[in-house]
Amino acid sequence: MKTDSISKYRPFPVVDLPDRTWPDRIIDSAPIWASVDLRDGNQALPIPMSVEEKLEMFDLLVQVGFKEIEIGFPSASDTEFAFMRRLIEEDRIPEDVTVQVLVQTRRHLIERTFEAIQGASRVIVHIYNSTSTLQRRVTFGDASREDIRDIAVEGAKVVKELVPSVPETEIVLQYSPESFSDTELDFALECCEAVMEIWEPTPEKKMILNLPATVEWSTPNVHADQIEWMCRHISQRDAVIISLHTHNDRGTGVAATELGLMAGADRVEGTLFGNGERTGNLDIIIVALNMNSHGIESGLDFSNLSHLREVYERTTRMTVPDRQPYAGELVFTAFSGSHQDAIKKGLDRRKREEAELWGVPYLTIDPHDIGRSYEAIVRINSQSGKGGVAYILDQEHGFDLPKTMHPQVGKRIYDLADERGKELSAEEVGAVFLEEFVNVSRGMKFSDYELDHDTANRGEVACEAEIEVGRASMTVKGVGNGPINAFVNALETSGFKDFTLTDYRSHAVRGGSSSDAAAYVQLRHDDGRILWGVGVDPSIEMAGVKALVSAWNLLR
Ligand code: KIV
Ligand code: ZN
Repeated sequence: MKTDSISKYRPFPVVDLPDRTWPDRIIDSAPIWASVDLRDGNQALPIPMSVEEKLEMFDLLVQVGFKEIEIGFPSASDTEFAFMRRLIEEDRIPEDVTVQVLVQTRRHLIERTFEAIQGASRVIVHIYNSTSTLQRRVTFGDASREDIRDIAVEGAKVVKELVPSVPETEIVLQYSPESFSDTELDFALECCEAVMEIWEPTPEKKMILNLPATVEWSTPNVHADQIEWMCRHISQRDAVIISLHTHNDRGTGVAATELGLMAGADRVEGTLFGNGERTGNLDIIIVALNMNSHGIESGLDFSNLSHLREVYERTTRMTVPDRQPYAGELVFTAFSGSHQDAIKKGLDRRKREEAELWGVPYLTIDPHDIGRSYEAIVRINSQSGKGGVAYILDQEHGFDLPKTMHPQVGKRIYDLADERGKELSAEEVGAVFLEEFVNVSRGMKFSDYELDHDTANRGEVACEAEIEVGRASMTVKGVGNGPINAFVNALETSGFKDFTLTDYRSHAVRGGSSSDAAAYVQLRHDDGRILWGVGVDPSIEMAGVKALVSAWNLLR
């Protein structure tokens, strides 16, 4: 921002609460969660959801475990009214789920809302009016505090009058002093108390007081102070459920909610992936998974986040950003080599020690717990450490490369990433490895190979192989203390030995086709170069010979 613009703005007033207690509290249990996806979220969409899409979203929210779902603003449009009617008439609301409807404090709108909810078994009727100084001055043309309080009182009276019109429905009452976040606290309290006086909540039949950060104007500690102040000053704390409803204008909606919970709130309103006006509402997924990551049950099930994201993106036509906590495409991906190495060590150690507690550097949770896979944890680009490639080949393709082979394969992959100017996926890494290091047959290849374990010399085997080198084909024969050694000797006899075999490993390929074995042969060329080659074959002996041929070819 230009310096001469700064004078337009003022610091946000702090709350006079020197004996605040929230900084010493911790979150140790889940609040009541209320989804506002179908109302606050939906009304902020460039293309609002159709009734069919809302139904799909509703079912999804139920599956996740929400017990309170604001389904819309039935008095505001025919679509919203029809949606509410369909939920009721098609008996789509599970017994343990309460739907919530929002309405302004105007008689005809409240009447229409009560028409919409006829026949439902339990409904939260939520009224709101804007209370802040800014709104009073600008939107309501310098309305006085009394004028604004009277709007709340009138609305509360109409609601109370209409409750008996739906005798078969249990009504829970909710009031929001909208724009609470920049309302003077004593005035917000005055409006809430005025509504409470009419609704007469009791500890047995509580009402909900929702205190919205309609616009996030301040740091989260100020929000927490506001919430604690209200919790301490409200006359019948045990007869009200204090509810949070944060937006994310300063990017701290999650922090404001978490501190608001520490400050004493009982309930949280928010949306999936933080959809909502402007910068969005609170992302409930983040708060719930943050709790899980500290060992606290949330009551919401986000174990299949990818499915949730798919339905969300399709029905809202919004996209989840790549860096969105927990859900973003890249949040379990490490690009830096040192991060990749640390993650690999953490995962290996967990496997070795069968550790109960999670403890992997750079990963706050186990991606598997939310339906994400390790597949994408390490992607390879030219900055990746050598452990990254080995990790991919091990975890994704079942090849446990000898440590001294890591730099050879790593270099090829990084050079390729550089050439292509992008990171390589796990599949691409696997494909390049198979193409360039496994069963390499350019230069030398063999068409037939026979082993005779029954030679006169005890403990030795004889081999006979048909090989092609360039355009020439020939039969080579050799004897040795094993199939590979016999083949090395056969090559020596035929004049193809310009190397020493310096290392050999083998293992069964994990997850590979049936029972393939992988063998790794390291050769040192007479000119000093050292290279590994890999062979894969159902027979471990053949895998070894193929590995030797691969290494021979790679040295050419
Ligand atoms: O942000 C807000 O203040 C609202 C109210 C209607 C609760 O959405
Ligand atoms: Zn809102």
